[in-house]
Amino acid sequence: MSCKILDGKVVSESVLSGLCSEIRALLLSTGRDPGLAVVLVGDNPASKFYVESKKKACQKIGINSYDYRLPATASEGELCELIRHLNNDPEIHGILVQLPLPNGFDEQKIVELISPEKDVDGFHPVNVGRVLQGISGFKSCTPYGVLELLRYYDIDVAGKHVVIVGRSNIVGKPLASLLIQRGPGADATVTICHSKSENVRELTARADVVVAAIGVPEFLTAEMVKPGAVVVDVGINRVDDPNAKNGYRIVGDVNYAMVKKNASAITPVPGGVGPMTIAMLMKNTVESFKKSLGGLQ
Ligand code: GUN
Repeated sequence: MSCKILDGKVVSESVLSGLCSEIRALLLSTGRDPGLAVVLVGDNPASKFYVESKKKACQKIGINSYDYRLPATASEGELCELIRHLNNDPEIHGILVQLPLPNGFDEQKIVELISPEKDVDGFHPVNVGRVLQGISGFKSCTPYGVLELLRYYDIDVAGKHVVIVGRSNIVGKPLASLLIQRGPGADATVTICHSKSENVRELTARADVVVAAIGVPEFLTAEMVKPGAVVVDVGINRVDDPNAKNGYRIVGDVNYAMVKKNASAITPVPGGVGPMTIAMLMKNTVESFKKSLGGLQ
């Protein structure tokens, strides 16, 4: 079966180029431009890489990125103080605190401290709740990116059975919440499986669309996928590889080489969902900026 590669690089470039034009036009008409605060605590190498990628995307399209780095030894109070300051800074339209935070930080408390109006990650319970209720709120970037990727390739999930493997607050739960909404790009029938689910293999094998988001390298194998299904791989895992120049390589949660033979469409890793997450973060930041302009536009 020929399998379509859902190219997140191409789609994210198209999203970013649209945003870039929009930012330029708004700068001309209002004299103002958007700002994103990027907060990194500690020096987790993967987090550092993601933060750098987000800053690069900002630079590329005309969002001012403001860098805040705290050592892993910083106190939770210092981080709270920084977030309160950013909440009140009119030049900042989005606040991104890269997760996971080092041990000792109460992640939930930090997420809830970010003003929902600047929560461009879409992690604040107010935004999570608004999205669940189908009213306007920032959508979590990875699930939002998955929907945009499917939309770009005209993959309609309406009435289809989407099986999501993984129940995280960042991907599984918010993705299910978006897919079950009424309207274009949604209207799906959704099953979430997790570590306690029985017969995960049978569930995924019945799905029209499988989304793997559990953080287990190459978990989803060919037998777990119905011929012709669409497969979305949200995993980004480092696995040791003595032949690679830095000693590791990146693989997803899907056994790409095998599943590709079975599926009708698949996202690669890297270059699938990852770039879409960043593009949607930029989109949310521009959205927040536009709201802040209010009557100025
Ligand atoms: N850690 C893993 N994914 C994300 C994300 O989308 N945003 C933030 N802030 N942290 C993450």
